Amino acid sequence: MTPTFPATRLRRTRVAPWSRALHAENTLSPADLIWPMFVTEGRGVTDPVGTMPGVDRLSVDRLAATAHEAVALGIPCVALFPFTQGHLRTEDGKEALNPDNLVCQAIMALKDAEPGLGVLVDVALDPYTSHGHDGLMHDDGRILNDATVDVLVGQALNHARAGADVIAPSDMMDGRVAAIRAGLEGEGFHEVQIMAYAAKYASAFYGPFRDAVGSGGYLKGDKKTYQMDPANSREAIREVAMDIAEGADSVMVKPGMPYLDIVRLVRDRFDIPVFAYQVSGEYAMMEAAIAAGVLDRDRAVLETLLGFKRAGCAGVLTYYAPLAAKLLTR
Ligand code: PBG
Repeated sequence: MTPTFPATRLRRTRVAPWSRALHAENTLSPADLIWPMFVTEGRGVTDPVGTMPGVDRLSVDRLAATAHEAVALGIPCVALFPFTQGHLRTEDGKEALNPDNLVCQAIMALKDAEPGLGVLVDVALDPYTSHGHDGLMHDDGRILNDATVDVLVGQALNHARAGADVIAPSDMMDGRVAAIRAGLEGEGFHEVQIMAYAAKYASAFYGPFRDAVGSGGYLKGDKKTYQMDPANSREAIREVAMDIAEGADSVMVKPGMPYLDIVRLVRDRFDIPVFAYQVSGEYAMMEAAIAAGVLDRDRAVLETLLGFKRAGCAGVLTYYAPLAAKLLTR
């Protein structure tokens, strides 16, 4: 007589919490998180970002407390983004090279407060250009690759001199990783890492970020001549291969949730650590659903972040870093 029960019951290992814990294939911990934060001029300023409920722009004097919070929560690294005042924006973005600019002050404040906390700094000219693009613009509107790379090297060195641990070029110019690596080596910054935004897509999900850093109002046109086409995945492999050949220590995929297939592809093809950025629009989208009462924040946040790990990420940049770390250590 044939048995009338299934030979394999996959539910068996799911029945009890101890068994589910034992069989979990992936884990999430605060050590997987990079906390992006926005910094602004002034003293004693906590300025809410309108499009990102729960996220604030902080003045430099508020960063020490944030650094202590990150360390207390077990978050290994923070990422810095400056809100630049309009009068500091120029065609050539030269504020990027000012050793006393806001982001350099922020790096020093963070390293001063918590020398052991990793500080990652974006490299791209969009906080400083009057047209809001990541690169230099020719009179005819084209974004100039090689001239931009020269400035990016100066910007990266400016950050490294201020104490940045990780340089994260997000500009998508060709050849910038090699040029930045050479610049860093030339000044003896052998231990400063490069996390390359290797597969960065021209995405609708950056809208709230542009509000947070004040570049949205300035941006002329779009970034499609340098950021990737969302239609492409094989091209992402070429981008990553190039950045590895040029000396990147790790690579990033961005945005996150709509591009987890790219994370998996990169993870399977290369042995370099891959990170993903759960960007501002993903955060805003989830917050809108939470505000509408249709998503449970804590569960949804942890589920999305575990999804990044399952897709193959070594870690995730997420505005939910402090919340997730709290939930994970509770
Ligand atoms: C700038 C930069 C952007 C983001 C990180 N670095 C925006 C852009 O490329 O327009 C987006 C991050 C986010 O949306 O959270 N080069």
